[in-house]
Amino acid sequence: MRRRLDTGKRLVIASHNAGKVREIAALLAPYRIAVIDATTVGLPEPEETGDSFVANAELKSRAGAGQLAAESDDIVLADDSGLAVTALDGAPGIYSARWAGPERDFGKAMALVQEKLADTADRRACFVSVLSLAWPDGQVQNYEGTVAGYLTWPPRGDRGFGYDPMFVPDGYEITFGEMDPDEKHRISHRAVAFGKMIADCLATNDDDPSDDDRGDDSPGA
Ligand code: IMP
Repeated sequence: MRRRLDTGKRLVIASHNAGKVREIAALLAPYRIAVIDATTVGLPEPEETGDSFVANAELKSRAGAGQLAAESDDIVLADDSGLAVTALDGAPGIYSARWAGPERDFGKAMALVQEKLADTADRRACFVSVLSLAWPDGQVQNYEGTVAGYLTWPPRGDRGFGYDPMFVPDGYEITFGEMDPDEKHRISHRAVAFGKMIADCLATNDDDPSDDDRGDDSPGA
């Protein structure tokens, strides 16, 4: 049975990235969900050994919820995301961060994508985000969002991060790196995944009939 997030409950974000925690806290602020980061509650960062975005997001949320279950009824939210390039069979995919090397050099990671694509005509790609919610009793709910587009070269814009400067979302002529961040946050893979999570777990009316990912139609479940 699908579960909802009760307002008043604490949600632990299984991330040590302060920027990510701030972005998630802002998205949840209207729903009166108290958000706390992994560093504050002492959650370790598990190794991402899964073979998909869902597996890695779930591995992180389950590990966190399992660890906290002994001492609280906190719910844990984890995410995993990356860039999937069609002509590269979905690479860099779950290895998106690792392609930038230990020095987190995304200029290098983008150049590697471009090098592998060489003169391939198919430049389609998408960003993928999976959010995973885990409760202390083992219940897990995952939400996936994607945004489709194509890769351009050379990279353009310095307003984003990661692979943003080479990604042009469908319906636009500018890259995510050139886009107003508010606009990116409205259409991004993370926004889509969040929209699904909010519709499933937080929204008080069922005004989004397009969300057919729900496992249970009853909003009070
Ligand atoms: P993680 O989800 O924190 O493991 O990071 C995944 C990696 O995917 C990031 O380091 C970025 O390289 C890439 N990525 C995920 N989302 C975005 C995005 O919105 N723009 C650019 N790169 C992204």
